[in-house]
Amino acid sequence: MNVIHAGLKQWVADIAKLTMPDAVHWCDGSVAELRHMYALMERAGTAIKLSEDKRPNSYLVRSDPADVARVEDRTFICSANRDEAGPNNNWVEPGNMRATLQKLFRGSMRGRTMYVIPFSMGPVGSHIAYAGVEITDSPYVVASMHVMTRVGAEIIERLGKDGFFVPCVHSVGAPLAYGSADVPWPCNPDNRYIVHFPQSREIWSYGSGYGGNALLGKKCFALRIASVMARDEGWLAEHMLILKLTSPEGQAKYVCGAFPSACGKTNLAMLEPTLPGWKVETVGDDIAWMKFGTDGRLYAINPEAGFFGVAPGTSTQSNMHAMSTLQRDALFTNVAMTEDGDVWWEGMTDVPPERLIDWQGREWSPGCGRPAAHPNARFTVRADFCPIIAPEWEDPNGVPISAILFGGRRASVVPLVNESRDWVHGTFLGSIIGSEKTAAAAGKIGQLRRDPMAMLPFCGYNMADYWRHWLKIGERPEARLPKIFCVNWFRKDDRGRYVWPGFGENSRVLKWIFERCDGDGQAVDTPIGLLPAPGALDVEGLDLAAGAMDWLLKVDTDGWLQELPLIREHYERFGERIPEAFVDQLARLENALQVSPAAA
Ligand code: OXD
Ligand code: MN
Repeated sequence: MNVIHAGLKQWVADIAKLTMPDAVHWCDGSVAELRHMYALMERAGTAIKLSEDKRPNSYLVRSDPADVARVEDRTFICSANRDEAGPNNNWVEPGNMRATLQKLFRGSMRGRTMYVIPFSMGPVGSHIAYAGVEITDSPYVVASMHVMTRVGAEIIERLGKDGFFVPCVHSVGAPLAYGSADVPWPCNPDNRYIVHFPQSREIWSYGSGYGGNALLGKKCFALRIASVMARDEGWLAEHMLILKLTSPEGQAKYVCGAFPSACGKTNLAMLEPTLPGWKVETVGDDIAWMKFGTDGRLYAINPEAGFFGVAPGTSTQSNMHAMSTLQRDALFTNVAMTEDGDVWWEGMTDVPPERLIDWQGREWSPGCGRPAAHPNARFTVRADFCPIIAPEWEDPNGVPISAILFGGRRASVVPLVNESRDWVHGTFLGSIIGSEKTAAAAGKIGQLRRDPMAMLPFCGYNMADYWRHWLKIGERPEARLPKIFCVNWFRKDDRGRYVWPGFGENSRVLKWIFERCDGDGQAVDTPIGLLPAPGALDVEGLDLAAGAMDWLLKVDTDGWLQELPLIREHYERFGERIPEAFVDQLARLENALQVSPAAA
């Protein structure tokens, strides 16, 4: 590869000197290279080729059982001082962390090949996109980056002599002594460091080979580092899906949605509407980068090129388009394998197969008491294989966003849908979003945590400053901003059963949102915002229990009043940096709840 970028060459040479690999390979992003990675992984026992008849050109990988999810407690933001990182991040003084990393990485790639992966987040040449270069000693990471980003020599060419790129260094942290045998999934679970230096826009990751810990273009670059870049440059880097919604009249609008990990972003992005005539197409399922266009609207790109989706729960009922996307050329991690060389996970079929090999390679049968697939098992697949990918998903100018949704898993309190009164109110509502914890990150499942804008694990700086940045976006003169809505598909009844059917039926909520964006659709003003007026949400043909809609759209005044101290506690963590506008919004909410009839 002809590299004329002196800074890039020097950096690669420096990392090679530090990590001492046996060889250095510059990745070209070719099909032959991807095949070679799979061949290496098969030889090392990392990957198993699935049946060519059942799942052509697809592979199963089993990770080390100690390396199965993002490790938020081992994720660090090393900004100049602790306040800049904020209470939402683990902070270590940059000089100290650099010293730690130098020790960890010294000789960490011994006995391995060091791969240099030039990649673009976003369509190459788009003014919304940025380049990165990941160095890794993991063929699994190379293969995954091929799918999840745009890899190739063109990126290096475009960088020219001194173009900007985000340097990302990754090592599984398991050097091989001369002649010693490797393990299928090398990692170093006792010594994991996922480190970001926001000031120098640098990423260093050690000890894990899994997902967001290791595919550094995704959470580390496209969210944590990009959120800092966005703050400095006046744009937004968000944990959001992007979908195109077309009405029966053929009018299209683009909608972004922020939901915490494993709360159904991929399902919503690939939704099959049950409402006749409505159509959803996918632009992205996890991350949106938005910049202002000359018309004052926010234009979004999906910086990724693939989907790294949660497999359990994905089925032809819940997401038939994801299932079609996965028919070939897919990489599965920590799912179960069937006797005929295909994959299976909980929820894929109502009745599990009689016998399986589970995600740890052990014999499995129904009722044995263990899940067959790990709850955070994943699929990795190219976005352009999705049968409903929007034709403009790679438009370098992005797509103009009409609505932003904030959501989470809330069994109680939060209604099905709630429109904010304006940008400031919407930003406030986004800042207080809570969700029950899922398996996407290590930790206790089901516990409620505040996950503002679904960015808690991904905001690369003080979250209060991030809120200020959102408010500043709204103050931009001549901005034509999207409307902001909150949604909750997960409200339960008194007996703990979900009330809303979700999935394709969510198109009914999307229809109301579409209408509201057009200035149509009836709403009632409530203490928490604008809710669909009785009869405004199209539930025709939907078989709901009596009173279900009232329950779903009920403003639970007592529930909200009980939530206020928790919101205050949440804000108190950020001290004086909390925007004044939020303090006002909270006071207004409290007053409105206190005078509302249900509280009287
Ligand atoms: C993801 C996550 O992988 O949010 O998208 O954990
Ligand atoms: Mn995500």
